[in-house]
Amino acid sequence: MMMKSTLFALAALALQGAYAHTSGFTNEFALPGTTLTTALAIRHGCIGSPTIEVSVIVPEEITTIKPVELQNWTLNFEYRNTGQGNNQAISSFRWTGYLNPGTAQDFGMVIDIPNLDVSQGNVTLYFPTVQRCSNATIELTGEEAPHITVTQKISDEYDHHHDGDESGAPKMAGSFANMMAASMLGGAGYYLLNN
Ligand SMILES: *[C@@H]1O[C@H](CO)[C@@H](O)[C@H](O)[C@H]1NC(C)=O
Ligand SMILES: *[C@@H]1O[C@H](CO)[C@@H](O)[C@H](O)[C@H]1NC(C)=O
Ligand SMILES: *[C@@H]1O[C@H](CO)[C@@H](O)[C@H](O)[C@H]1NC(C)=O
Repeated sequence: MMMKSTLFALAALALQGAYAHTSGFTNEFALPGTTLTTALAIRHGCIGSPTIEVSVIVPEEITTIKPVELQNWTLNFEYRNTGQGNNQAISSFRWTGYLNPGTAQDFGMVIDIPNLDVSQGNVTLYFPTVQRCSNATIELTGEEAPHITVTQKISDEYDHHHDGDESGAPKMAGSFANMMAASMLGGAGYYLLNN
């Protein structure tokens, strides 16, 4: 029992890191001034608990974004003033519904990428995201937030989303954390916790 709760605490600590590998945009590179069709890929519930809400904060640079309506999910928006006349932009939005913990779902959206100056280097736009489950919450903030990299040239290598470490995903220290990350990816984490 002692062992189990220790494992659970460690798992909770490791979870954010693990999710950095698994929850992100399916298409994460874009050229300035283009329209990007992408999706937030939610791969798992929170340690075996179903997902009931996915909420996303839109970075200020983005003034036009269209999250897609999904069957069985309710979509809500909040708005902000853009500072240009009476124009409003979506500041955050959330899908509320139900997703079984073992099921993956893509939460789609279409984003007008602003005409940012990327001549001095890539610009990364972060979308802080909260995945609320029925008995836990995963916050992806700061560097761990799902992000879009606005770049001058999209190399073929990066055309498709991949989960490997070479994408620059933050690395976790400690073999347990690595084991958790690996087992979350494979879904084996559930067995570890439920045994
Ligand atoms: C959340 O629910 C899952 C599945 O029922 C369970 O395995 C896990 O222990 C629960 N976690 C907490 C913190 O209650
Ligand atoms: C929506 O919910 C209904 C009733 O629970 C279910 O039969 C259907 O498969 C769900 N659709 C999707 C796309 O999950
Ligand atoms: C900018 O992004 C591209 C991917 O399109 C990548 O190949 C390149 O290494 C990035 N440049 C820097 C400086 O990170």
